[in-house]
Amino acid sequence: MKNQESEIIEKIRQQFNTTPFPQIPLEKSPKSNYNLLYVHNIVTPYYLKNQIVVETEGKVILDVGCGTGYKSLILAEANPGARIVGIDLSEESVKLARHRLEFHGFNKAEFHVLSIEDLPKLELEYDYINGDEVLYLLPDVKAGLKTLKSVLKERGIIRANFHSSLQRFAYFRVQEVFKMMGLMDENPRELEMELAREIMTALKDDVLLKTQTWDGEAAKTEEWMLMNYLFQGDKGYTIPEIFSALKAADLQLISMVNWRYWDLLDLFKEQDNLPAFLAMSLPEISIEERLHLFELLHPVNRLIDFWCAHCDRAESFVPVGEWTLSDWEEARVHLHPQLRISQAREDLIQCITSQKPFDISRYVTLPALVPIFLESHVAACLLPLWESPCPAKSLVERWLKLRPLNPVTMEPVSQQAAWEEVKEVLKRLEAFLYVLLERSARIG
Ligand SMILES: C[S@@+](CC[C@H](N)C(=O)[O-])C[C@H]1O[C@@H](n2cnc3c(N)ncnc32)[C@H](O)[C@@H]1O
Repeated sequence: MKNQESEIIEKIRQQFNTTPFPQIPLEKSPKSNYNLLYVHNIVTPYYLKNQIVVETEGKVILDVGCGTGYKSLILAEANPGARIVGIDLSEESVKLARHRLEFHGFNKAEFHVLSIEDLPKLELEYDYINGDEVLYLLPDVKAGLKTLKSVLKERGIIRANFHSSLQRFAYFRVQEVFKMMGLMDENPRELEMELAREIMTALKDDVLLKTQTWDGEAAKTEEWMLMNYLFQGDKGYTIPEIFSALKAADLQLISMVNWRYWDLLDLFKEQDNLPAFLAMSLPEISIEERLHLFELLHPVNRLIDFWCAHCDRAESFVPVGEWTLSDWEEARVHLHPQLRISQAREDLIQCITSQKPFDISRYVTLPALVPIFLESHVAACLLPLWESPCPAKSLVERWLKLRPLNPVTMEPVSQQAAWEEVKEVLKRLEAFLYVLLERSARIG
């Protein structure tokens, strides 16, 4: 490794040894943070990649740059029976991570003081690698991704994220200012933080850098100052740079983690009435171009956060919208594991009994921009999913029992009409991954 690279890695290590991240109290549990559990549940990306619902039992999950282990804890909570391995450069962070997992009863989680480039030394292969808020710190991101790929199982998945150059531009400017002033030559401590605060406070309030970055209240905390103003090794990336790194590492994108916040069409007033040029060209452009265009128009996401995997095009992924009737007839319906919670079931039964709409989006809000309500008879049809996965066919039978007659004509509802209703409900919910649909050919 080049001298300059090892110097910056040493600065990062020191920064996180003196102020490990994140500073979340040991006793805090993520058990009721359904969004975080949904993202960290490996069922989510495996379904997005292969349209299958995997068992978490026995899967090997790596948390790279685990810090104080809060994400490792979420991974452990979200993936019952999985083996959790965490690594981090900073020995202080590793100690805290180990302690956190033990405190929450995950005594078998393993943590190692290790740099990403040394991962092969553990001689393990992983079903899932969580690289959260760490890869943008690597001096050579292509090499980092290649290392992760080298320890990823054949069907494994990597979650990676990078700071966005466009969204975080102002913070990179502040960091540049403080580098010029020498505040980041060594490990920044109280003195450097205080100098940085003084300089920002002294600036007129309408100085652009200040309006774009300064938050007097947040700046009182060490963590905020270090993770924003004086962050050693922090860097930003664009979508083309990330795609180029993925290509170099021979990895392919599966999906953005918060895909609902990267939808280009959402940026237009009337999605069905786009200027002709856009209406013609948008369907033709690649995923990379769509994401890049989104960022150029509306750089709101601090992180470019995504799942990727080996480039194996062998999997036959057929979008639910293209399923044939026989696909449907053989299909199995699962509730997303993060919705199979007793609170949701109780609320559902309450809505069915009082014939009120059920807001299925209130637990996992991330994929839905607006609340998603189910009419109470629809909720009643889906109730068995809170017990176990069901064949789609059995939901149709249940629908026919719940709605035997067409309420307008009072004629019996046909099998075909019931199928259409159930398919519509399931397709709508599958878009948010609230339900997961497996074709029989994919099961097992
Ligand atoms: C911003 S923190 C993120 C912690 C955790 N992943 C999270 O999201 O809460 C970055 C962590 O990555 C670690 N780190 C940075 N570079 C690393 C490297 N090359 N190898 C292993 N860990 C690294 C740091 O020590 C730090 O604990």
